[in-house]
Amino acid sequence: MYDRTTSTAAFLKSEIKGFVPETGIILGTGLGGLVNEIQAEFVIPYDKIPEFPVSTVEGHSGKMIFGKLNGKNVVAMQGRFHFYEGYTMQQVTFPVRVMKMLGIQRLFVSNASGGVNPDFEIGDLMIQTDHINLFPAHPLTGPNDKRFGPRFPDMSEAYDKSLIALAEKVAASLEIKVVKGVYAGLSGPTFETPAEYKMVRVLGADTVGMSTVPEVIVARHMNVPCFAMSVITDLGVPGKIVEVTHEEVQHVASIAEKKMTKIISEMIKAL
Ligand code: HPA
Repeated sequence: MYDRTTSTAAFLKSEIKGFVPETGIILGTGLGGLVNEIQAEFVIPYDKIPEFPVSTVEGHSGKMIFGKLNGKNVVAMQGRFHFYEGYTMQQVTFPVRVMKMLGIQRLFVSNASGGVNPDFEIGDLMIQTDHINLFPAHPLTGPNDKRFGPRFPDMSEAYDKSLIALAEKVAASLEIKVVKGVYAGLSGPTFETPAEYKMVRVLGADTVGMSTVPEVIVARHMNVPCFAMSVITDLGVPGKIVEVTHEEVQHVASIAEKKMTKIISEMIKAL
């Protein structure tokens, strides 16, 4: 794994000619529009990158975009790999390892999720303060390579407190409402049954989704500070549960996208 990561990173380094990204951004649902804010210097489709899986899901095209966002060097992944697509956890998280080798000092991630906190509303933006890993597989099982990180990584601050504070400050100055909470990661691809929404609520989550947790675990393994923001696209709250579709999730996310894009791009400017 270490050698494969090094060789993919070496390929990308030769393509990006000395460009060093400071921040890695996984453009999940809700953040697709951020690409328009990046002054791209190098755009590399996933199918040109050795060892990279190819993204399949609707609404997630696959490219790595290297460039400047508000004057700061970033690498953005347009399209991520989900466990439910059939990738292994190692494949899902491989790009995070590669981005670290390219020099990122922090990772930003976005996603869509179903709110289970009764105070949440559809369209809310949630800053993730923590997560609960309910995926049936873990990206760090198997032999541990110390060059990446320790066998038993600490997860006491999975989401960086100073980035959370910055996000709150930026959102307040932009007068954008944000909520904070815990994200439970489940494999999908089914949305949850009412009993499952209730379960994650009882377990201590505010929202539930099908991504982000594996990438954050791997980033924390390599001691990369993380920040994640979620668009609440539907509610798994008793009395408010209605049919959920991928189209509805995309629709709500597209409305929230402008706000999330503003927050993230202002945060990057302030770093
Ligand atoms: N559950 C899981 N994933 C999701 C949801 C949900 O309700 N909404 C958007 N992604």
